[in-house]
Amino acid sequence: MLDKWTDKCLLNIDKIDQQHKAFFNLWNTEMEQVDTQDRIQMTQVIEKLEDYIKAHFREEEELMVKSGYNDIEKHIDQHKYLIQKVDDLKQELDYNNPLIHEKTAVFMKKWFLNHIIQSDKEYQQSVLEYLNKK
Ligand SMILES: [Fe+2]
Ligand SMILES: [Fe+2]
Repeated sequence: MLDKWTDKCLLNIDKIDQQHKAFFNLWNTEMEQVDTQDRIQMTQVIEKLEDYIKAHFREEEELMVKSGYNDIEKHIDQHKYLIQKVDDLKQELDYNNPLIHEKTAVFMKKWFLNHIIQSDKEYQQSVLEYLNKK
């Protein structure tokens, strides 16, 4: 499983690559700065994560629709699953799980990066063809 950013994560779709990369950088910086036992800081970081992935997923889904990508339902299900994972993190925060920081970092690095190199890669061609025709 991939756990750090590499050029393998690039899709050559500028807007999407920038979002993926900015998110990953921001996330690494924020996760280093946060006091792992400070619930308020952790809540803010997780809420930011939630806002970010929701906005990013919306943009991706819009591009997939416009490009006529045929496996869109499966991809949207995966986005829903990742949003559910963030909801789980919020719940663990409510339960004062002392490992919340570690779990959040693992989520970010593993789930998010692996979604990019596996699922996002699958729509890459369809979206690139659509953008090149525009
Ligand atoms: Fe993505
Ligand atoms: Fe995606």
